[in-house]
Amino acid sequence: MLPDLNYKEAVFYVMSGTGNTYRVSRWIEEIANRHEVKAKVVLIEDADFSNDFIQSPDFLVGLLFPTHGFMPPWSMIKFLFRMPIRTNVPVMCVATRGALKIGSLQIPGASGFATFFAAILTLLKGYRVKAIFSLDMPSNFINFHWGLHPKNIDKISNKAQSRLKLLIPRILNGQRIWFTRNNLWEMLWCVFLFWLVPVFPIAYLIIARMFMAKVMFSNNKCVGCGMCARFCPNNAILMKDAGTKKRPYWTYHCENCLRCMGYCRKKAVEAGHSWAVLLYFITSVPVITYAWAWLHRTLSFYPVINGYWTIEVVYIFNFLIYIIFFLFAVFLSYRVFWYLIRFPVFNTFFSVTTLTHYYRRYHQPDTKLKHLAGIKKKKQTL
Ligand SMILES: Cc1cc2nc3c(=O)[nH]c(=O)nc-3n(C[C@H](O)[C@H](O)[C@H](O)COP(=O)(O)O)c2cc1C
Ligand code: SF4
Ligand code: SF4
Repeated sequence: MLPDLNYKEAVFYVMSGTGNTYRVSRWIEEIANRHEVKAKVVLIEDADFSNDFIQSPDFLVGLLFPTHGFMPPWSMIKFLFRMPIRTNVPVMCVATRGALKIGSLQIPGASGFATFFAAILTLLKGYRVKAIFSLDMPSNFINFHWGLHPKNIDKISNKAQSRLKLLIPRILNGQRIWFTRNNLWEMLWCVFLFWLVPVFPIAYLIIARMFMAKVMFSNNKCVGCGMCARFCPNNAILMKDAGTKKRPYWTYHCENCLRCMGYCRKKAVEAGHSWAVLLYFITSVPVITYAWAWLHRTLSFYPVINGYWTIEVVYIFNFLIYIIFFLFAVFLSYRVFWYLIRFPVFNTFFSVTTLTHYYRRYHQPDTKLKHLAGIKKKKQTL
């Protein structure tokens, strides 16, 4: 067995939507530098594996990302798959999760599979997983709930920073952080989710991609500055002509990191709740029932199929038709929706009937957009 070593150098790869994880990586970097570990923070889009770290047990590789539906975000998953195979390079997997505070009660977030997923993948690539932990930061999930009050943001952040001050020196001393109360909490979530809905995290990743991006729109306050498009980490926003000005159009590349929503200076990005309800009904049309009924009426088709095919085949066929209809309906109806919101009356209707219109926005207070832009993006935008 390799002996535990103190690290000499570290690189922290970071994915961050609204700045929480970026801030955490800077706090860790500060602590590391204080312990004479030469550390640097690298955004995942700037990663250069051949120069960022060497294959050595003295070199710690940190992987930091937010939790999205109990998993790492898509961009982080792709990054983990891209990581090169290296033997015995120590790795630390950290997920920030969304905590809420109501009065004096702090409600912790849950990372579920997020850190374990990163740990298993890196383990399979030959790395030595030395530390796994999740950390409560103020929740940025503002398409679902109100943005936290600044006082509560401070309290949650201070608690996170204090926790890091205790934890990081232990990790830098080579201690293995695996069997902790924190990881037990996350394990319980994994068991609960597996038992309840076995495919929940995967389903979430797909639904968020298909559905959640397609409820985003800009309200009448949008001035068409294009900042949301320029700073989107996935280049998921297109600025398209919409009457007298340009408006953001959300594509399927969006992974719902909420950077655009959290940082828009005009508070113009909304996640249309009333539109989501309408979209739900549009996509739930029992299209296959109508199709079968029509075929049966015109060709007496259904009994023939039922005679030759097993119920399972018919069931799978139904399901496939539904998926095709779902994708088509989401795609087409977003185009119609996007056309309508250029008219102030429709825009006002969808804005005032969405809860995000009344919610506070959130981004990590000390993290500026320029901190979150990779080198290439900085060259293009700043
Ligand atoms: C789409 C989405 C899904 C989220 N899912 C979870 C979750 O499953 N569990 C959790 O604790 N927090 C969840 N959160 C909250 C974030 O993980 C948390 O606020 C994180 O610190 C944000 O980091 P960032 O500012 O670096 O993007 C979610 C946030 C978003 C936007
Ligand atoms: S939504 Fe906000 S950031 Fe995007 S173009 Fe409109 S005003 Fe600018
Ligand atoms: S469009 Fe907005 S929410 Fe989607 S990935 Fe880009 S910045 Fe994040």
